[in-house]
Amino acid sequence: ASSLPIYTQDEVTKHRSVEEGVWVTYKGSVYDITEFVSMHPGGDKILLAAGGALEPFWALYAVHRQDHVLEILSEYKVGEL
Ligand code: HEM
Repeated sequence: ASSLPIYTQDEVTKHRSVEEGVWVTYKGSVYDITEFVSMHPGGDKILLAAGGALEPFWALYAVHRQDHVLEILSEYKVGEL
């Protein structure tokens, strides 16, 4: 059981810029990746997913299908949908 808060999709959608925070969802969890944006090996493309789901983008960019990518993501978890 997680003690992290539950967020609505509406709340996630409000976080679409580095100024307001960049949140994404993946498999029902919510991540605040604001601090990671400037470290992303794929550059600003990461902002295409801001405020929404990673799944459609990671389906296109198979480079993310690796354990170490999920480890990075897990560091930024802030809640659940
Ligand atoms: C590469 C993480 C979102 C596009 C990578 C790599 C990591 C990473 C660790 C390097 C993988 C490797 O070479 O071993 C993440 C994380 C994301 C995210 C944690 C979300 C929180 C996205 C999104 C897109 C994207 C949404 C596209 C819309 C790319 C591309 C590369 C890449 C094109 C290849 C860069 C290159 O090697 O030239 N990402 N990514 N990423 N990412 Fe992401």
